[in-house]
Amino acid sequence: MHKTVQDILNMKKEKKKISVITSYDYTLASLCDNSGIDVLLVGDSAGMVMLGYENTIPVTMDQMCMFTEAVSRARKNSLLVSDLPFMSYQASIEDAINNSGRLIKAGADAVKLEGGSVMAETISAIVDVGIPVMGHIGLQPQTTVLSQGYKVQGKTKDTAMRLIEDAKELEEAGVFSIALEMVTHEVAKIISETVSIPTIGIGSGVGCDGQVLVVQDLLGMYDKIKPKFAKRYMNLSEDIVKSLKIFKKDVESGVFPAAEHWFSMSEEELKKLREQIGS
Ligand code: KIV
Repeated sequence: MHKTVQDILNMKKEKKKISVITSYDYTLASLCDNSGIDVLLVGDSAGMVMLGYENTIPVTMDQMCMFTEAVSRARKNSLLVSDLPFMSYQASIEDAINNSGRLIKAGADAVKLEGGSVMAETISAIVDVGIPVMGHIGLQPQTTVLSQGYKVQGKTKDTAMRLIEDAKELEEAGVFSIALEMVTHEVAKIISETVSIPTIGIGSGVGCDGQVLVVQDLLGMYDKIKPKFAKRYMNLSEDIVKSLKIFKKDVESGVFPAAEHWFSMSEEELKKLREQIGS
């Protein structure tokens, strides 16, 4: 049985840190799931790292459902949370419920959406139909980026107070956890100590109850943006490019394929074939 929302809630009570990693495809999701990662997040960052968009705005529900289905085929152990993309939940509560339902039918256990107190009513409505919701405050790539760019959130007393209030209102609305993106570490720590649900930080310091990274950042596979907060555990692009260059050379020189990579017919059948075609 895979992890449940309740397991994630219990981790905070037991003071166990929560590991979250983004996943979008079957192959990498299988590796993440096998590694014991607590939560696989099908983030709308898929639009950037998988589809090459400049930001997450163009991502559609159909795309998120496709990524969610692929990850759910791989998932055996982790909790699976999927992002509601831009404009799939903001226009009406009906949209929010219907689109959350689509992600659940695609294989998610819970959905994530961006926004503070303005989203409280929408979140309550989704939770009321039985769908667990993860909140997301601080830098909100679907909207903050449009107005401010990628800026650290909660640097002043007033913006910090707003974030703390948002977190409290999301908890009241029924979220089971809150992602805190690029929030100053002091404010992230205060929020984590204030709410009873787990906080999952990205660029928000060690005071959060868990941490999330985009898998391509962690593996060193996405070079377009290199956020300060994204720790690279390896430089996979380098190894991939090295391997591809060797493959190209091997093809050109005839080193690949070798006998162990091809299939043969019997001498007898080959002889008959040659007789028939007269060679
Ligand atoms: O889309 C995403 O990957 C996210 C995480 C970075 C929190 O929302």
